[in-house]
Formats: sequence, structure tokens, C-alpha cells
Amino acid sequence: MAITLNNGFKMPAIGLGVWRMEKKEMRDLIINSIKIGYRHFDCAADYQNEAEVGEALAEALQTGLVKREELFITTKLWNSDHGHVIEACKDSLKKLQLDYLDLYLIHFPVATKHTGVGTTGSSLDDEGVLEIDTTITLETTWRGMEELVSMGLVRSIGISNYDIFLTRDCLAYSKVKPAVNQIETHPYFQRDSLVKFCQKHGICVTAHTPLGGAVANTEWFGTVSCLEDPVLKGLAEKYKKTVAQVVLRWGIQRNTAVIPKSSKVERLEENFQVFDFKLAEEDMALIKSIDRAYRTNQPAKFWGINLYA
Ligand SMILES: NC(=O)c1ccc[n+]([C@@H]2O[C@H](COP(=O)([O-])OP(=O)(O)OC[C@H]3O[C@@H](n4cnc5c(N)ncnc54)[C@H](OP(=O)(O)O)[C@@H]3O)[C@@H](O)[C@H]2O)c1
Repeated sequence: MAITLNNGFKMPAIGLGVWRMEKKEMRDLIINSIKIGYRHFDCAADYQNEAEVGEALAEALQTGLVKREELFITTKLWNSDHGHVIEACKDSLKKLQLDYLDLYLIHFPVATKHTGVGTTGSSLDDEGVLEIDTTITLETTWRGMEELVSMGLVRSIGISNYDIFLTRDCLAYSKVKPAVNQIETHPYFQRDSLVKFCQKHGICVTAHTPLGGAVANTEWFGTVSCLEDPVLKGLAEKYKKTVAQVVLRWGIQRNTAVIPKSSKVERLEENFQVFDFKLAEEDMALIKSIDRAYRTNQPAKFWGINLYA
């Protein structure tokens, strides 16, 4: 199942997120996920594992496991490279061993001190606060993204972690409209207004952290996981599915793409098996009622500043 973007390209509704995947596990995870049926991979320069993803993809392509045109590869411009969009994209392409990207996203709507192309630093000042660059506008960054499309290096461009205000602004100044806004959204952080605003204006929403980050975010940020929710557990029983499958299916039924991460092959399979059932309207409404407006991905922990405040 795929979502047609505003430029006609199709993006598979489920993808594999590769944040926090161990470099040494990457080859087997990527090869196994392709065998399971994954065609969409969500990467980022900041995940510091593009080279390992690239090696695995090269093997899959060379051995004929998959063709390049069947794959949908996303990666992201890091905050420290807003002033170096073209070089940063070329650096990612080199690491990924690709000659074009399906989708390139601005990872966060903030430029920070440049630390060298592709080094993805997040420099902190003496007080431990992120060094934010106040000289580059997001419009300037977007012009670089548009140039990548003209150069044929990137098929689609988009934004990530943009709220309604910033998304509206991007729509106003863009010549090439953003195809995607990748945001945190899951049953505990539904963000219906933002999701509907994007969809109304032809921007596909990709749900990052679609499982609410589960154990990983509990460990990193001390957050509560929606996978333990009693309402969702009840629905899992009703549909004879796992809670993760119910949560991902809910994401797909609200027309968002979902990019769960797992480093376990049995979960890669589980997370992909979400196309053989449908949640009834009343159950979609039930899930709507458990929203907590609760963000689980909290980079403020590393940046000494809460950019969402
Ligand atoms: N644009 C952005 O700023 C941004 C921010 C965050 C994430 N992302 C993207 O979104 C992707 C997903 O986000 P995420 O990894 O933070 O969160 P997530 O996919 O919501 O959750 C990952 C956690 O769920 C566990 N898990 C996976 N499948 C499961 C299942 N079936 N049952 C129970 N637990 C399961 C994983 O553990 P195991 O690995 O042990 O299975 C891991 O602890 C990332 O990899 C990245 O590509 C983007």
C-alpha cells in the first residue's frame, strides 16, 4: 500500500526507521526487512549509520534482491548543515551509495552552528545550551532543497517537526511544495489539527515514533508507552492482533505513513502485517479518546533548551 505524494511519486505507507539501530546489526536487519517486504527506509545523517545502510542496500541491489526503482529512501538534512544543503545531501548520497534520494527532509526547523558537512554536531555553549544560528532563514534552507530537485539529486523534498505556523510559512514561500511533514504522532500524541492541516494542503504526514517510542523512549526519556494502554490492549484482543499492529493500523487508517523501528526480526514481520485487517469506525473513535497530547521524543534532554516550549 502506498500514498501518492503531491508530485505524483508514491511512498509506501509503512517504512523502517533506522534511528538507534546498531551499526553491526544493520546489514542483517536491512536484508531481512527487504525479504519481509519493506521497501521504504527512513534514514538521517544524524543517525550516523548511513554508510552501514548504504552497504546493505548496495548488497541488496547487486544481488538482485530488489531493484532501485522499487525502493523509497528518505534521509534528512541535519541542523548544523542548513547553510550547506547541497554538500550535505551529496555527502548523504555518497554514504548511502545512491545517485538520488526519493525524499530529503529538513530534520528540524532550526539551524545550528555548522560543525563540518555531515558531522551532524549539536554544539552546546558554556551553559550547555544548543548553539542556534540566527542568520539563516528556513526559506533560505528551502531554496537549497529546491535546488536539489532541479539538480536531479532528490525526487521529493519535505519538512520534519514543523508545526502549523512553520508549515504554513513554508507553503507560502515554496516554489516546490513540501511533499511530506514527518512529525511525532501516535495514539498518545495524535495532533489532529496539524495532521489535518497538512493533509488539507496536500502534504503527506509521516508518523515518526509511531509506536510512541515504546521501551526505547522509556529508557531514553522516561516516557510512558502507549503499547501498555488498556484500551489498546482490549482492541488487540478484539482483532487478534498485537497492540503494535493496532497502533500502526490506526496510523495507516488516518492516512499517515508509519515508520516503526525494530531491531528484532520477528517484530519487523509483526509490524509489517497490518494490511489484513481494518479497525472499525467506532474503534478509530475509541482510540481518538485516549489522546494525551503527550510527546515522547524529547531532544531537550541533549540540547539544554526545549525548542517546543
Ligand atoms: N524526524 C524526526 O525527528 C524523528 C524523530 C524520531 C524518530 N524518527 C524516525 O522514526 C523512526 C521510529 O521512531 P522510534 O524508533 O523513535 O520509535 P518507535 O518506532 O515508535 O518505537 C521504537 C521502539 O519500539 C520497539 N518496538 C518495535 N516494534 C515493536 C513491537 N512490535 N512490539 C513492541 N515493541 C516494539 C523497539 O524495540 P526493538 O528495536 O527492541 O524491537 C523500540 O524500543 C526512527 O527510527 C526514525 O527513523 C524521526
